[in-house]
Amino acid sequence: MLLKVAIVGTGHMGKIHLGKLHAFKGVRVAGIVDIDPLAEREAAEAGLHVYPDLAAACADPAADFFFICTPNEVHRPIALAGLAAGKHVITEKPAMLNTGEIEEVMAAAEAAGRKFIVHQNRRWDEDYLVMKALYEDKTLGDVTFIETRVDGSRGIPGDWRRDPNRGGGMVLDWGVHLVDRLLCMVPSPVLTVYGRLSYALGAPVEDGFTIYLTFANGVEALVACTTDNYAPRAKFHMTGTRGTATVDDWEMHGKIVRRVADVEPDAIPIVAGKGMTKTMAPRIVDYAQLAKVQDNVEVLPLPRIDSDIHDFYRNAIAAAEGVTEQAVSTASVARCMRVLEAARRSHETNSVVDLSAIDSYLEA
Ligand SMILES: NC(=O)c1ccc[n+]([C@@H]2O[C@H](COP(=O)([O-])OP(=O)(O)OC[C@H]3O[C@@H](n4cnc5c(N)ncnc54)[C@H](O)[C@@H]3O)[C@@H](O)[C@H]2O)c1
Repeated sequence: MLLKVAIVGTGHMGKIHLGKLHAFKGVRVAGIVDIDPLAEREAAEAGLHVYPDLAAACADPAADFFFICTPNEVHRPIALAGLAAGKHVITEKPAMLNTGEIEEVMAAAEAAGRKFIVHQNRRWDEDYLVMKALYEDKTLGDVTFIETRVDGSRGIPGDWRRDPNRGGGMVLDWGVHLVDRLLCMVPSPVLTVYGRLSYALGAPVEDGFTIYLTFANGVEALVACTTDNYAPRAKFHMTGTRGTATVDDWEMHGKIVRRVADVEPDAIPIVAGKGMTKTMAPRIVDYAQLAKVQDNVEVLPLPRIDSDIHDFYRNAIAAAEGVTEQAVSTASVARCMRVLEAARRSHETNSVVDLSAIDSYLEA
């Protein structure tokens, strides 16, 4: 079966999806919709069909799918228009601006008998897949703490991403990735959320955030994003009862350091700063060589996990054909949005938000 996709919004992400979709045998790009004449001209020059407007794309029986790659505030009306016209819709992240909008579009998809799929592409990132595997196979013993973060120093890009009315700000930009992956990784309901948003750069939207989560299974997590940080910290730092693993950067540098024997030899105190410490005495390890020198630990390289983002498109196509479940459930996307809304509420009230009566674990 040949599926025909209309791309709505051909900016940065729209172009990326156009490139990827062209590689698929079972997919044809039916056309594009954009409100920018320059984008329309570029698409026409590239030989693509350009719909005069969204209504024309809705009316085209040759388009099965809408792939919505516009700024965030128009995901909802475009998705609703597409579903009402009988199209399946994929939206870029964030799916919508809030949980209410997501639930409205979920209901519209249900009523139309069409798919509503969100491009949570970072579920295919290797750093996440490796950490999830380490969590699940208990390489570090029972995981107790996870820190997941992205650090940048270039501020918020100066377009719609700085506008609170257009879904700007880092919570809807990176929060929807980092919290989403954490919720997929820890198989447990969230108990509490404490969030602090950062306005250090003076923009009308948050330029970063720190969110602290506790889970019913005892795991705690810190999720953070900065745009004013010139010395990025490890993207993942995960500790368990037997060891710690880090992913330091986008290139998958990092390590696993874990205890070898159950019985710990007594530590030798060291001189540190202007004092003495035994508790904080470092273990003697040559991290550059990924080697233990002494002291009851082993240092291992991170495993590598191959993943292919094309699987996202393959799954969306198969889900639309009714031969498989969609890989990214909209219920899981709504759950993530509820946690992010709790983090914003926590910031506004400077209090811990209790989700224990509301949240439950959902697979993918
Ligand atoms: N998944 C990811 O990794 C990732 C990365 C970047 C951006 N995104 C998401 O992709 C979406 C687009 O981001 P971008 O960086 O490509 O933005 P962009 O500004 O580069 O492109 C947006 C395009 O949409 C067009 N547009 C605006 N309103 C429209 C409307 N009503 N109808 C049709 N076209 C319209 C604009 O003219 C522009 O061409 C956002 O939701 C963003 O959050 C996702």
